[in-house]
Amino acid sequence: MFERLCIVGVGLIGGSIARAARHYGLSKNIVGYGRQQDIQNLEVAKKLGVIDDYYLQIEQAVQGADCVVIATPVASLESIFALLKPFWSEQTIYTDVGSTKYSAVTAAQQVFGKVPDNFVPTHPIAGAEQSGVEASLCDLFLNRRLIITPLNNTRTDDLSKIQSFWELCGSMVSIMDVNRHDSILAATSHLPHILAFALVDMLGHKDEQSEIFKYAAGGFRDFTRIASSDPAMWRDICLANKSEIIPLIQQTKEQLDKMQHLLENEDSEQLLTIFAYANTARQRFLNQFEGNMSKSITFQVQPGGLLQGEARVPGDKSMSHRSIMLGSLADGITHVKGFLEAEDALATLQAFRDMGVEIDGPVDGCLTIHGVGKHGLKAPKNELYLGNSGTSMRLLSGLLAGQAFDSVLTGDKSLSGRPMKRVTGPLAAMGADIKTTEQGTAPLYITGKSGQLKGIDYVMPMASAQVKSCLLLAGMYAEGDTGVTEPAPTRDHTERMLSGFSYPVKQQGSKVTINADGHLTAADIDVPSDISSAAFFLVGASIAPGSDLLLKHVGINPTRTGVIDILRLMGADIEVLNERIVGGEPVADLHVKYSPLKGIDIPEDLVPLAIDEFPVLFVAAACAQGQTRLSGAEELRVKESDRIQVMADGLQVLGVDAQPTEDGMIIQGGSIGGGVVTSHGDHRIAMSFSIAGLRANAPITILDCANVNTSFPEFKDLVKRLGLALVCEES
Ligand code: S3P
Repeated sequence: MFERLCIVGVGLIGGSIARAARHYGLSKNIVGYGRQQDIQNLEVAKKLGVIDDYYLQIEQAVQGADCVVIATPVASLESIFALLKPFWSEQTIYTDVGSTKYSAVTAAQQVFGKVPDNFVPTHPIAGAEQSGVEASLCDLFLNRRLIITPLNNTRTDDLSKIQSFWELCGSMVSIMDVNRHDSILAATSHLPHILAFALVDMLGHKDEQSEIFKYAAGGFRDFTRIASSDPAMWRDICLANKSEIIPLIQQTKEQLDKMQHLLENEDSEQLLTIFAYANTARQRFLNQFEGNMSKSITFQVQPGGLLQGEARVPGDKSMSHRSIMLGSLADGITHVKGFLEAEDALATLQAFRDMGVEIDGPVDGCLTIHGVGKHGLKAPKNELYLGNSGTSMRLLSGLLAGQAFDSVLTGDKSLSGRPMKRVTGPLAAMGADIKTTEQGTAPLYITGKSGQLKGIDYVMPMASAQVKSCLLLAGMYAEGDTGVTEPAPTRDHTERMLSGFSYPVKQQGSKVTINADGHLTAADIDVPSDISSAAFFLVGASIAPGSDLLLKHVGINPTRTGVIDILRLMGADIEVLNERIVGGEPVADLHVKYSPLKGIDIPEDLVPLAIDEFPVLFVAAACAQGQTRLSGAEELRVKESDRIQVMADGLQVLGVDAQPTEDGMIIQGGSIGGGVVTSHGDHRIAMSFSIAGLRANAPITILDCANVNTSFPEFKDLVKRLGLALVCEES
């Protein structure tokens, strides 16, 4: 890329750039510049092979360089520009690494009159507590964010070259304007540094200093780690960006006053609301923005064991999503109990907060939604990030198609690979304007067509509750009737909940019809336990001799109970006790005991009623006597993973004769061995292979299990409590 790269200031950052450039073969020759007093450091840099040579005269250092990187502290930029000015060359690209960009640009302006068009202001968001070239690393920028803040006159060729340079060093490059950079960094970096320095300063000056630090535990250490950073550098950064930082300090003071007030008044409810919001918000941004850097989770399962006792698994995922959506669109306040506090449902919750809906909680599964009415949603400021959740994306695409604002829906890697044409196709027929990628996948760019959608009569080619619900939600904003006919019954939570909120929906055989005439009136919702989460325990107890388990308060909506029917056909011993209706949905306690299973041909009409339970039903089949055959389940190939292929691969690793077919699987029951399998980031696959451990004859290692948090964060603890030897390892 470059013939000669000149690094001005070969410290931690400059040295790391030099190392990365060498490692990735980005420059033939790499030289450093420093002042007389830097000579020892430059010697070390040369000895370590970080640079090929160094110069104390700027003229010699920059001679023949096609790229000059200024890697000195922000406060020194003006004097560095002044040094460079007499030798400034049109053939060279100049860039810097300062963490405040307004000051960098102003320094250039001071020296040159206007910012030169071959200067590309850049900020790699990376660092380390140690400083100096000895601490430099070639992978300091790998998977780190880097922001370039070009000006109107920045040469586009230079900008793209600098962008490529950093991408080749492994950085994730964003481009934004100078002021936006400085205001974002003020909040996420500069303010936290000030708070850390201030806290240590305050506590350090207290008399009881030694006592405080002696007993400082993880919280104090984590919070103040950044106070170990270079003090002079941070003084300069804070001064350089003071106009952005000062208003944030003011807001922080107000927030602290509020906390003080809440404590004085012992307002435990408000305190909990604030803490709970912060807790989920933090988890969410870690998932969204640090997904590829976050820890990977492995489940290690010891063979054997049995499941015994009583449990209430978390709330139903489908109903939790819908409770947020309809509660937000209702007039009045909706209270939700039993809400699933897992990543998928929290993604929907956040999306509605982003559209201006005030939602308190969740605290112990309870939420209060301050409904804004059917036409009360506001334009989100940013894209709506929906994590792993297909339900959120497909239902929201219908709901947002008819709004008075535009929106963009994005998701994680798995969701970004899932088919969206199944919803955008019929929505387009209603007059919606939604752009997908060429492959028909997310991101979805939705242009709101308020007042312009028209009802259609749609016969679904596949049995999908998500497609049905999407069109019903769009139908609430369309002219005339919207009718959806399903080829087989699918979960009807949307229809039930709409009725619960007094919105008229008409069901005639396999067709459901809606129009725009209704209003939603707030109603309280009691979400039962998710039968899809209970399914792991229904199978686990059925296959592990000696098991005896009571699962409380499980939703047994007839469009969801295929798993019970299939297991019973295989010979399972499941009793449905204490049946009752809670908030318009049937609920029961399920009593399951070990019973030897036999292989069956799974009736195709049960497939949509057990669509999420097949991964664990395959495990049941592997433990059954004889052959189990599934067909008519091609939808499994487009779930969070290709569940036919991924389960067949894993079962084969465990020594099971499992043959995938186009639309299902043929499994010869027998014994299950041990081995290393991967869930491909699919929560239900991870939990299914964990359950297989109950009947395995050797340990099973399951890779890539972090996504269990999308539907069942308590799984690992609950399954351990009930009798499976599972250890969760983070790396
Ligand atoms: C769901 C519908 C089903 C199911 C998913 C949840 C819903 O998807 O697999 O986990 O809440 O509507 P399809 O509609 O794609 O079958």
